[in-house]
Amino acid sequence: MTIYEQLGGEETFQAVSEHFYSLVLKDELLMPYFEGKDTKGLIKHQATFLAAVAGGPAFTGRSMEKAHLGLNISEEAFAKVAFYLLTTLTHFNVTEDIKSTMLEAAGKLKSQIVGK
Ligand code: HEM
Repeated sequence: MTIYEQLGGEETFQAVSEHFYSLVLKDELLMPYFEGKDTKGLIKHQATFLAAVAGGPAFTGRSMEKAHLGLNISEEAFAKVAFYLLTTLTHFNVTEDIKSTMLEAAGKLKSQIVGK
């Protein structure tokens, strides 16, 4: 069984993404990056992206580098986002194993996201 299936599929990932964004958008350092963005759309994209990382359907959105181009995301902002992802997974009682798999996947994307 994939992590995606273990966690309950599409519905769970939509809820995870909503929770994640509720934390991100409350953070004063992160807020400015998201000003004027379509948050509803982002929640959807993030849900499908995380689902893909967990072995669900393939992600069909933009490459991580293209999606974050021109945002000039700092190391600190990236670390905070990773932290909120971890907090969110903990909130959903995800096992340590799955958490580290997801976090590792996020960490690998850092060079495509930071400073672009
Ligand atoms: C591992 C970390 C991250 C992942 C997996 C991720 C994932 C995504 C995804 C899937 C999208 C939508 C792509 C699409 O439109 O097809 C997106 C867009 C976006 N992300 Fe991230 N992201 C990460 C880190 C960050 C960080 C650290 C920031 C800023 C603090 C950020 C800010 C944004 C913004 C502002 C957009 C919208 C861009 C636009 O529509 O113009 N992301 N991200």
